[in-house]
Amino acid sequence: MEKTLVIIKPDAVKRGLIGEIIKRYEAKQLTITKMMMLTPSRDTLVKHYAEHEGKSFFENLLAFMMSGDVVVMTITGPNAVAQVRKINGATKFLDAEMGTIRGDYGVDITANLVHGADSTDSAKKEIDIWFGL
Ligand code: CMP
Repeated sequence: MEKTLVIIKPDAVKRGLIGEIIKRYEAKQLTITKMMMLTPSRDTLVKHYAEHEGKSFFENLLAFMMSGDVVVMTITGPNAVAQVRKINGATKFLDAEMGTIRGDYGVDITANLVHGADSTDSAKKEIDIWFGL
């Protein structure tokens, strides 16, 4: 069994897509094992997005992520990391296949609806950042 971390971002929450997004994970027999809703702090986001610090889009990304509530979840199941990334679609909405969350709903490179950890190592770190030990 694998565990991953997913964030439903402020654009998706504002657009009323929480149920639609969760439905897609559950349809693939993945299980939501933890869930919380909050407006993230800068501190948490700096830790979460440490690998992007210094990039041109970093400050915009943080401002966007602090612009409203997000839903943070752990999702558990066989191949959870890869399954979630497939369901989410490519980071850039124009590259995302139709049938994926970003392909079906994405219209912006920063406000791209969801985040999914990119590896089991990242998932462990991110779960620790958001949910503690
Ligand atoms: P996410 O999967 O959360 O990881 C990094 C985030 O940075 C990405 O989704 C987007 O929300 C945001 N972002 C903004 N611009 C870019 C870019 N040019 N390349 C990658 N990610 C970007």
